[in-house]
Amino acid sequence: MGAKLITGGIVINANYTGEADVLIEGERIAAVVAPDSEISKSAHHSDTEVIDASGMYVIPGGVDAHVHLQLPMTPETTSSDSFASGTAAAAWGGTTTVIDFAGQIKGTAIPHAIESRLAEASGQCAIDYGLHLSVGDVNQQSLIDLPKTLDEGISSYKLFMAYPDAWYSDDGQILQVMQLASETGAMIMMHAENGIAIDVLRDQAIERGKTGSIWHGRTRPPELESEAAHRAIQLAVVAGSPLYIVHLSSSNALAEVARARNDGRNVFAETCPQYLYLSLEEHLDQPGIDGVRHICSPPLREFSDGHQDNLWKGLRTDDLSVVATDHCPFCDAEKMLGVEDFRQTPNGLGVIEHRMDLLFQGVLQGEITLQRWVEICSTTPARLFGLQGKKGAIAPGADADVVIYDPSKEHILGAETHHMAVDHSAWEGVAVTGQAVSVLSRGQYVIKDRTFVGNEGHGQFLRRKIPDVLR
Ligand code: URP
Ligand code: ZN
Ligand code: ZN
Repeated sequence: MGAKLITGGIVINANYTGEADVLIEGERIAAVVAPDSEISKSAHHSDTEVIDASGMYVIPGGVDAHVHLQLPMTPETTSSDSFASGTAAAAWGGTTTVIDFAGQIKGTAIPHAIESRLAEASGQCAIDYGLHLSVGDVNQQSLIDLPKTLDEGISSYKLFMAYPDAWYSDDGQILQVMQLASETGAMIMMHAENGIAIDVLRDQAIERGKTGSIWHGRTRPPELESEAAHRAIQLAVVAGSPLYIVHLSSSNALAEVARARNDGRNVFAETCPQYLYLSLEEHLDQPGIDGVRHICSPPLREFSDGHQDNLWKGLRTDDLSVVATDHCPFCDAEKMLGVEDFRQTPNGLGVIEHRMDLLFQGVLQGEITLQRWVEICSTTPARLFGLQGKKGAIAPGADADVVIYDPSKEHILGAETHHMAVDHSAWEGVAVTGQAVSVLSRGQYVIKDRTFVGNEGHGQFLRRKIPDVLR
């Protein structure tokens, strides 16, 4: 692969914005230099491919730290994007790294979960990918197996305080995994919702004939998210482990994270575009398919309670560190399974393609700065999940995962034009400004001038290091 020089654009890193040229040699960034530098001048006179990025932003490829591709949810349902289609869709939207999950279901062993998930993803991905481990069965053998995952490049474990019938761990089990993480430096990711209480509320609702999608939201109130977040934080403090709360959706849970961070704890949280933009009133409280399409957990929250505004504020104050997608789409036929009983709807939305654009609207609306956009969508997730130095920055030595982003391109999101393998869109008709024009993964085009030129075998499995949690 020959060298490339991206010239004339504005480079945006988490800590820098300015005109600069980016020299790529092979799979890596070789130099970031002033446009009139000798390196730039000599590149123009060699066989280096010169890419004109005038009027464009040049940003590190997005790092989506929370996705579920081809995830079996129930015996009848599997999330509709495969590793191939989901990673291609991610690339269309300017994301060049995804981290999915190997899932240890109850009664199975961790090595088996990792081996089979690696086999499913291998040779399928258009961009680089990593795996967290979802721990669904904490027992003596699991505690022996867990430290070995670090040798395989899996340095983060998701635990669940929700889903008592499937993934749930009790407080003692959670504490044990946290104690182990405090020794090894692995990151604990937490689905923080009190699933035991939620299941009582859900069953009571159905008994009273409250079967519609709005009841998915009403039976998972924000108090049961903040209670779980508080408990998770206290357990992590006792164990001495880092903690990363996934898909945080409410002001209530955010307050718990803010307090812990003010106390200097290594507690972090991610939110997702759906919690910033969609709401219980407008999206979940709809009859039939329109309501069930918007079922995800935690649920969409009420605009009237100010959750969305507070999440934007949390992104500004760094109480929220990351925006990931929790991408987990299901087609209408599967979403319809819960149209007469919200409990039967597979949880999740399709977002992987739109995260960078949706968060860029936050820049245009004055919610976050350009550098903060890059930080929360790329730099911090790379650091918190052991990819620092390799992903998340336009810097010499880093992988040449580079997005040439047109900040003034207007387009409309929807199922007709998106590349996610799902037959509807939670973002149907939403007008946005800003779009990835070209996307390079390790120096190779995946998207070139809005054409997909990638291939399924390009994406490599990322063996991640111990996270850097000291910020
Ligand atoms: O609704 C959601 N979040 N689906 C994916 C599973 C999970 O809990 O992350
Ligand atoms: Zn979850
Ligand atoms: Zn998830």
